Amino acid sequence: MSGHFITFEGIDGCGKTTQRRLTAAWLREQGFDVLETFEPGDTALGAEIRTLLLSGEHVPSPETELLLFLADRTQHVRELIQPALQRGAIVLCDRYTDSTRAYQLAGRALDADMLEAMLQIAELGAKPEMTLWFDLPVKEACGRMQARVAIGEAATRLDEEGQSFHERVREGFSAIHAAQPERVRCVNASAGVETVQQQIRQLLTELIG
Ligand code: TYD
Repeated sequence: MSGHFITFEGIDGCGKTTQRRLTAAWLREQGFDVLETFEPGDTALGAEIRTLLLSGEHVPSPETELLLFLADRTQHVRELIQPALQRGAIVLCDRYTDSTRAYQLAGRALDADMLEAMLQIAELGAKPEMTLWFDLPVKEACGRMQARVAIGEAATRLDEEGQSFHERVREGFSAIHAAQPERVRCVNASAGVETVQQQIRQLLTELIG
């Protein structure tokens, strides 16, 4: 694979989607071929899985939830990520395996050691070269989410989990960062949009040149 695979991670409300869009626009201005994508649900099959996972109509068991996120991922890698990397594109992916580690393993307290092999299988060999972890306190993230709901944005089943769940998820991301600090770079997401974007540009310039 000859492209660059960069993932955007963090708790709900951390601002990563805004930053992914700004980053894609900046890279395209410089002439790079960029694939902007997200999980779950950026393939036709994945969109159906996303509805099953997040609409709230069904409440899956923690294990079922894990398997559905992984099913979405293999389809995503096969259909979109691998082809883009093979043609040399920069892939900016909003959530990937670290979200599963943080939400399903840490958040739902599933056995990380036992399930890590399954996470590897779902990636089909596509590993992020750099992960941007947008860190901010859960209280701040919840405030941003409430503001979004107030202007009419629908909350998902996971957005509606309690504060202690989101605290475990944040701790999950923090543990991944501590274990792999070279791949997972911490971005201070409490800063303003412009400041965060500057941090990202600096990190990507180091990576891509
Ligand atoms: P989404 O509305 O796309 O949220 P965001 O814009 O914050 O990414 O919802 C995706 C939700 O799915 C989010 O709450 C995180 C969750 N998720 C997992 O629990 N496990 C996963 O493996 C992935 C990819 C997402």
